[in-house]
Order: sequence, then C-alpha cells, then structure tokens
Amino acid sequence: MPRAFDFMLPPIRPATLADLPQLELLERASFPDFWTRESLQTALSESGYLVLVAGEVGFLIGWNVGEEAEIARLGVLAEARGQGIGATLVERSLADFKVRGVTSVFLEVRADNPIAIRLYLRAGFQDIARRKDYYRDGMDAHVMRLDLSTPNP
Ligand SMILES: CC(C)(COP(=O)(O)OP(=O)(O)OC[C@H]1O[C@@H](n2cnc3c(N)ncnc32)[C@H](O)[C@@H]1OP(=O)(O)O)[C@@H](O)C(=O)NCCC(=O)NCCS
Repeated sequence: MPRAFDFMLPPIRPATLADLPQLELLERASFPDFWTRESLQTALSESGYLVLVAGEVGFLIGWNVGEEAEIARLGVLAEARGQGIGATLVERSLADFKVRGVTSVFLEVRADNPIAIRLYLRAGFQDIARRKDYYRDGMDAHVMRLDLSTPNP
C-alpha cells in the first residue's frame, strides 16, 4: 500500500559501475569499517550481487547464491534518515530477491544498532541467533532471517 510520504522518496534503482563514486561516498558515510572501492566495484561487476541506490542518499548491497540471500550493507545519509528510505530499500531488495527465486534472506546486524534491528523486524525478519564478539570492536551480532517462501512475508 502506498505510504503518505511516498512522493518524497528518492527513486530506487539497481546501481551500475557509473555509480561507483557515489556508492563509495555513501559507504564511507555509513560505516566506520567501510568497504574499499575495489570491494564495491566487485559488487557492481559480478553476478549474484544486488546493489540498489536510492537517489543520491541511500544504498543497499546484498547477494544471493541460489535460494539463499544475504543483505550485507544498508546505509542512508544522516540528513535523509527517518523518512522510510532504509525500509523501502529493504522492501525493494526482497522483491528483487524473490524474482531470483530466493527463499531465505539472512543478515547480521550490530547488537548496539536498535534502529536497524527494528527496521529489519518490521520488514519481517526474525532474530534467530546471536554471534558473540562478531565485530572487530567486540560487539555482538544479531543474526536475522526472513522466510521469502511464504506468499506475503
Ligand atoms: C539503518 C538506516 C539505514 C535506516 O535508514 P532510514 O532511512 O532512516 O530508515 P527508515 O526511515 O526506513 O527507518 C528508520 C526508523 O528508525 C526511526 N528512528 C528513530 N530515531 C531515528 C533517528 N535518529 N534517525 C533516523 N531514524 C530514526 C525512524 O522513525 C524509523 O522508524 P519507524 O519506521 O518506526 O518510523 C540508517 O540509520 C543508517 O544508514 N545507519 C547507519 C548504517 C547502518 O547502521 N546500517 C544498518 C546496518 S547493516
């Protein structure tokens, strides 16, 4: 169902190699342990990856191997947060994964990131496990999974 603020959402589309500079900027603005330009280039070049951009303010990177997918990166510039862009990127990735025949989507999220955890729970993900000391700074990860095999996840 369309949301009241849909008219404000930047267009979401698959990224191309031409988006590499913008993607690098978004990645660095979103994560202290940012992916290198080379890693981003690989994501844009190799099949299996799904790279989406929301205008110039948001991005999502995932991939699938057969029926299993992973969402690895999701970021929205600080000044554009809280408008539903992150949630819409996740929704769009799930639709795209479904077209690829994916039945399960996994992700890891920092235990100290309640905004992201809530966003994923609202998108239908379930918290299935906790990985101790998963991140370099010792923070735990929540492992989350979404079942895409049901008609309306
Ligand atoms: C997580 C992230 C992608 C969310 O993007 P977003 O566009 O703000 O997401 P949404 O607007 O769809 O949802 C954000 C939710 O947090 C809420 N929120 C609470 N405090 C907020 C704040 N200070 N800023 C933004 N949103 C806030 C929003 O109201 C919204 O909840 P709602 O759906 O109940 O209204 C963004 O915060 C981000 O880039 N963070 C840094 C990178 C990161 O942590 N990525 C996720 C880990 S993989």
